[in-house]
Amino acid sequence: MDKPAPTARVLVVHYSQTGQLDRALESMLRPLEEDPACVVDYLRLTPVDPYPFPWPLVRFINAFPESIHDCGCPLVPDENPRHDRYDLVVLGYQVWFLSPSIPVTAFLQSDMARQLLADTPVVTLVACRNMWLQAQEKVKAHLRRLGASLVGHAALVDESGSAASFLSTPLWVLSGHKGPFWFGIPRAGVSQSDIARADRFGVALRERLRGDQLLDTGVWQGLGAVHINDKLIASEKIATRSFYVWGKLFLACGGPDAWLRKPLALIYAVFLITMILTVVPASALLKKLFAPLLRRRTARQRAYYSWPSGE
Ligand SMILES: Cc1cc2nc3c(=O)[nH]c(=O)nc-3n(C[C@H](O)[C@H](O)[C@H](O)COP(=O)(O)O)c2cc1C
Repeated sequence: MDKPAPTARVLVVHYSQTGQLDRALESMLRPLEEDPACVVDYLRLTPVDPYPFPWPLVRFINAFPESIHDCGCPLVPDENPRHDRYDLVVLGYQVWFLSPSIPVTAFLQSDMARQLLADTPVVTLVACRNMWLQAQEKVKAHLRRLGASLVGHAALVDESGSAASFLSTPLWVLSGHKGPFWFGIPRAGVSQSDIARADRFGVALRERLRGDQLLDTGVWQGLGAVHINDKLIASEKIATRSFYVWGKLFLACGGPDAWLRKPLALIYAVFLITMILTVVPASALLKKLFAPLLRRRTARQRAYYSWPSGE
C-alpha cells in the first residue's frame, strides 16, 4: 500500500481593507485547501488603530510619509500561528504609496516575521492599482534580511488600465464605491476573471508541495504571473524619491494627526496631482521616443522586475 504523502504546511499572511486581496488569495489557495495533504493556516494582520475605509482625503494623503519611510504601526498581538515553521509562507499585500501597506511593513519588521520566514520559501501576491514595482523591491529587501527565499511573485492590477485607474482607484478608496463613475470613468479594482484565474498559482504550488520537484523559483514561471508596464519604471523611481523627501518634512511636523500636517497635506495633494499629470506622461513619452535606443536596457529592466516568476 502507498504511504500517504506527508502534510504540507502553508501559512498565509495578509491584510486587505475591502477584501479584494482576500478574494484573490481565496481563489489562489482553493487548490491547496481542497487537498487533504495540505494544511493552510491564516495570519490576518490587524492594526491596533484600524485604518479608515473609505479614507478621508487628508488622512489618505497623510498616510504617505509613514508608508514611504517604512514606519510600520502597532499590530494587535494575534494568536501565534499554530506552528513555528511552515513549508511555504504566502504574503498577500496591497501597495500604499509605492510601498507595502503599513500593516504589512509592520509585520515584516516584527520578531514573528523573523521566526516564521527564516530559511522558508515565500511567495508574494499583490492586488493593487498598477504601481507595485518599488513596493516589491522593498519586500524583496525585507525577505533577504530575514533569510527567506522568494520563489514566486504575482501581481493582479486594476482592470481599467493606467490612465483610467488614476481616477477610479482614488475615487474608490476615498468614497468606498467601486463605480463605474460619472463621465465614463470605469469601475475600479481587479477584474473578477483575473481573481478567478489566480487558482492557477495554487495548482502550481500544490504540485510542488506534493510532488518530487523542489519548490523553487520555477514554480510560477510561464503562468503570466506579472506584467511589467515599462513606462511606469521611471515614474515610480521619481515618485519614490519625491515621497521620500516630502515625507521627511511631514514626519518632522509630528504624527499623522498633527494639525500642521493637515494644511501641508492639501498643499502636497496639489503638488502630487501636478506631478502625476506631468511626470507620468512625460516619462512615458520620453520612453516611447527613445524606445529603439533603450530596447536592451528596457528588456533588462523587465527581466529584473519580473523576477522570479516572469511575465
Ligand atoms: C493609502 C493608499 C495608497 C495606495 N497607493 C497605491 C500605490 O502606490 N500603487 C498602487 O498600485 N495602488 C495603490 N493603492 C491601491 C491599493 O493598492 C489597493 O488596490 C486598494 O487599496 C484596495 O485594496 P484592498 O481591496 O485589498 O483593500 C493605494 C491605496 C491606499 C488606500
